[in-house]
Amino acid sequence: MCGIIGYTGPLDARSILLNGLSTLEYRGYDSAGIALCMEDSSICVAKKVGKVQALKDYCDAQITGGSHSGIGHTRWATHGGVTDENAHPHRAGRVTLIHNGIIENYHALTEQFGLQDRLVSQTDSEVAAWVLDRLYTGDPLKAIRELMGMVEGSYGFCIMFDDQPGAVYAARSVSPLVASYTHAGAMIASDLTALIPYTNQYFVVPEDHIVKLTPYKVHVYELDDSFSKFYPEIMTVNWNMDAAMKNGFPHFMLKEIHEQPEAMKQTILPRMNKGLPDFTDDRIPDQIFADCSQIHIVACGTAMHAGMVARAVMEPILRIPVTVTIASEFRYEQPLIDEKTLVIIISQSGETIDTLAALRLAREYGSVTLAVVNVKGSTIARESDYVLYTHAGPEIAVASTKAYSVQLAALYLIGCRMALVRGKFSRKEAADFLEKLIDAIPAMETMIEQKDTIKALVTHIIQSPDAFFIGRGLDYAFSLEGALKLKEISYIHAEAYAAGELKHGTIALISDQVPVIAIATQDHVFAKTISNIREVKARGAYVILLTREGAVVDENLADIRIRIPDLDDRFTVFPIAVVLQLIAYYASLGKNLDVDQPRNLAKSVTVE
Ligand code: M6R
Repeated sequence: MCGIIGYTGPLDARSILLNGLSTLEYRGYDSAGIALCMEDSSICVAKKVGKVQALKDYCDAQITGGSHSGIGHTRWATHGGVTDENAHPHRAGRVTLIHNGIIENYHALTEQFGLQDRLVSQTDSEVAAWVLDRLYTGDPLKAIRELMGMVEGSYGFCIMFDDQPGAVYAARSVSPLVASYTHAGAMIASDLTALIPYTNQYFVVPEDHIVKLTPYKVHVYELDDSFSKFYPEIMTVNWNMDAAMKNGFPHFMLKEIHEQPEAMKQTILPRMNKGLPDFTDDRIPDQIFADCSQIHIVACGTAMHAGMVARAVMEPILRIPVTVTIASEFRYEQPLIDEKTLVIIISQSGETIDTLAALRLAREYGSVTLAVVNVKGSTIARESDYVLYTHAGPEIAVASTKAYSVQLAALYLIGCRMALVRGKFSRKEAADFLEKLIDAIPAMETMIEQKDTIKALVTHIIQSPDAFFIGRGLDYAFSLEGALKLKEISYIHAEAYAAGELKHGTIALISDQVPVIAIATQDHVFAKTISNIREVKARGAYVILLTREGAVVDENLADIRIRIPDLDDRFTVFPIAVVLQLIAYYASLGKNLDVDQPRNLAKSVTVE
């Protein structure tokens, strides 16, 4: 979950690393550090608790002299508290190391190498640095290979050796790394955003390989006896740095909310052929849709919520079982899947560790795997049988917004194509479905235009420590995402409940003026939801009601009503998602919190 970067080349390493860390900060932001190989070949380490800006200020005050190579790290603490000592890089003898991941056997390694008196931090990473120092006899490749044979867990390492000035080494297992050789020198990072200012060409570091960066070249080595060279596929990024900047918006989250209509178009339109969904360019054969007897959707967080919406839309159309499971549960279960199961894996980053493990398990069971992923070339995308890329561009805010909408769009396309292939939709029905999906885009724009109205209603929500989201059917699936958005960035305790469940316990929590965000956009359960709203209103709740424009409701039912455009039931999620995102955004803003980088979280969850 940490951000890591390494650089060697003709430019000033300090500014490249610090600027890179600013773009990687969303991966972890409790402390940051850099190590520079100075012009006299000495290693200078600077690390500080807090945001990258605190490190920048510290470096300005403390570091004099130039450097042309170094490594940098922004931390999301796993082992050991948030202290300067636990921040990376770690110095161990002749080794300086940064790490993204978890070394599970760090305790055993400490004992095995008698490191107890050596360690100055509580981190697993420092143990790896000391082990490497013990293994090092002058050949970095050999020592790193030996280290890789000993550590258990996940890692992306960047390493400098005191006696190898100007060279940066890296190795990975599970945790992502991308690298590039550019006119500005050689670079490696946990995430493309750090490389984009210098190049649009990169390669994904393959797992269980070692990378050596020198100012003139980047080499990738296999772990075999002779360290054979590996030549990775060079990829081209299809977005530029503008996409990873705020571009006049006060926060990435608000910018990304605004980008949703365009991202939807990018995801849907290239897959339309004569008004029907077509995955020819994605190389997804119809056979996988025709052959399967059930669908199993696996994901985490927001992506899992997108899966829950898709389940409720797909199952009634396809009439085969569609199951949704949280990836961290799925991976330790004995799932009822087989070679006739289509396992759909959803992940914005394509690197979420539990989702990746779930994918690998599904493949072990012989299921066909189809990944819905945003980040090109990510591990999940590479390991799935098939991949349907969403084209949202980089999502920087920790709270997912556009990723959710495009995941839904991709899943709706899959559902529609599948219905067509399986004879559940005629061509006309499929074309109608797709047209309705496209009609949802202006409906999202309409809700974005109403952001000031939504901002105003948040005043009441932020005065309460709790908030509830209720709905039935699809509205319940939307509620789950609404509650997650609100709690993760406003720290208001928010829960989603199926409205019909309230009387089975939860209604005890409803007291005077507690905000209840009630979603009622599903025709067949509309009257039932309205009754549930009356019940919470009668107990003093402050009701914010989200309905379609044309819905007829009693004026006194809600304290505030937000009307979304009249869409078919299955498509109301798109404008509703915008409203829920804006509620969370303005609640966080109203509480003066860090909207884009909420406490304790990081964008990409690459550790268990
Ligand atoms: O990158 P992924 O889509 O696999 O991430 C899964 C979750 O961590 C993610 O959706 C998370 O719940 C959201 N960022 C929260 O807004």
